[in-house]
Amino acid sequence: MHMSEYTLDPLPYDYDALEPHISEQVLTWHHDTHHQGYVNGWNSAEETLAENRENGDFSSSGNAMRNVTHNGSGHILHDLFWQNMSPEGGSEPEGDLADRIAEDFGSYDAWKGEFEAAASAASGWALLVYDSFSNQLRNVVVDKHDQGALWGSHPIVALDVWEHSYYYDYGPARGDFVEAFFNVVDFEEPSARYEQAVELFE
Ligand SMILES: [Fe+2]
Repeated sequence: MHMSEYTLDPLPYDYDALEPHISEQVLTWHHDTHHQGYVNGWNSAEETLAENRENGDFSSSGNAMRNVTHNGSGHILHDLFWQNMSPEGGSEPEGDLADRIAEDFGSYDAWKGEFEAAASAASGWALLVYDSFSNQLRNVVVDKHDQGALWGSHPIVALDVWEHSYYYDYGPARGDFVEAFFNVVDFEEPSARYEQAVELFE
């Protein structure tokens, strides 16, 4: 029987590397406590599912499957979030991704304005995704980690707007945090993910 064991990768930079935009304290809590919690939650839900399959009692499987999508999406999106920021970030996308953003949204500014609207509306995440049904980039509003997904979409840029992501640094001023995110956003990983999506789906 297939059984994955998910693990938390270290941050791709030091905990204080994104200061002053995101504090060392927030990155420490966010990565070591919150993100670790989703990894643990995913593993534990998988264990429940495996045990239930073995003993033929599926009474707790419905809830465990919910825990897989909640915690699994939390793990997947945090991984992307860490990778789409860096101390060298803060510039605009280049190359094929930049061209596709201009094609699908009209301009970088139109994409960014819409992405900021997603970040303001979400109770979870703002995402730029490659929608493999429509073969286009789009922004989506995600509540929690998994509500608001469009099936077949491949995440390209993820911005965490849960309160644990910004409240300690910015209080209720989520817009200031979103502005700070754009000072550290790094489009190298998103470009690679975009190329991967094009290769898979076009
Ligand atoms: Fe988070």
